[in-house]
Amino acid sequence: MVDTFYRKTIGGELELEFDSLNTYLTDTGRSSLRLILKSDLRNKRFLLPDYLCWIILDVFDEHKVDYTLYHVNEDLSLNVDEINGQEFDVLYVISYFGKISALAGVEINDDQVLIEDNVFLPLFEKPKTIKNWIGFNSFRKISSAAEGSLIRSTYSLPSEYIKKEAPLFIQSKYKAKATKYEYLNLDQHSESDYLFLFENGERILNEQQDSFYPSNKGLYDLFCYMQNLDEESERRKKNYELIDKQLIPISIGVISKYCCFYVIKIENRDKLRRHLFDENIFLPAHWPSYKTAKNSLCESTLSIPLDSRYTQSLPKIIDMIETFLKI
Ligand SMILES: Cc1ncc(COP(=O)(O)O)c(C=O)c1O
Repeated sequence: MVDTFYRKTIGGELELEFDSLNTYLTDTGRSSLRLILKSDLRNKRFLLPDYLCWIILDVFDEHKVDYTLYHVNEDLSLNVDEINGQEFDVLYVISYFGKISALAGVEINDDQVLIEDNVFLPLFEKPKTIKNWIGFNSFRKISSAAEGSLIRSTYSLPSEYIKKEAPLFIQSKYKAKATKYEYLNLDQHSESDYLFLFENGERILNEQQDSFYPSNKGLYDLFCYMQNLDEESERRKKNYELIDKQLIPISIGVISKYCCFYVIKIENRDKLRRHLFDENIFLPAHWPSYKTAKNSLCESTLSIPLDSRYTQSLPKIIDMIETFLKI
């Protein structure tokens, strides 16, 4: 906090500017989306991007909410003409890999609603030019926390649907995380031990249909993560710059205040991915085509994690990609 003006009073409790937005916490991004789709918005027409994670479509279908799709361009920009050419009440945009989608040219009026899927961002703000807005994230996508999703909204959402207890899936996830830690640092267990536990946790989550609050442990992990956010963001930026020096010709160019992946776009993505698997390098491919959502990005992108765990390993990953692609 910087003291920029002469204070009328000194001492007493700290002041805080009035916050007109509604704030909620759930266990996961999908739980936040379920809460949004249980509000009055469920009867509206949604416009979704054709490049997205499968769970989004499943949650929409589960709630029988109407949607049509708009195209996302190869550089991850929104196809403005396709958006403006369709009737919709709610526009759903994804901040791909932490980069807020630019809305320049998008016609969105004060009766319409913008949902920003900010799963890759720790914190986010309402765009100044938008009246009706909901933003949510998913901390498990960007930190070592197993759970937690923040919703900020101009709408009041039906929070009575958030179950007071912690969700079941986290038990297996926390066990998996501890087992992986002991495998990596203390030479205990085997890889399959923690992989089984991670998969089991994800299976339980995929069966879950309710929204839950995060557990107290989850909240504590998030406090620790937020405490180191500036340092972590700085390291990620440096990692981004390191990779960018070598892989810029195949980069999709997603730089944000909070980088999480360096995304490359290549023709023989699956071959490269399998080649890296053989070296114990498991890079995610965001996201496969699903149901009606098909985009050429689904077959061509590969994401290199930028978090500080991998700083030492990045030169090897870059070298392997360059050698494989002969660039
Ligand atoms: C863009 C996007 N939105 C929403 C979600 C759902 O988040 P969660 O897995 O925490 O439920 C995901 C999950 O990967 C995602 O990638």
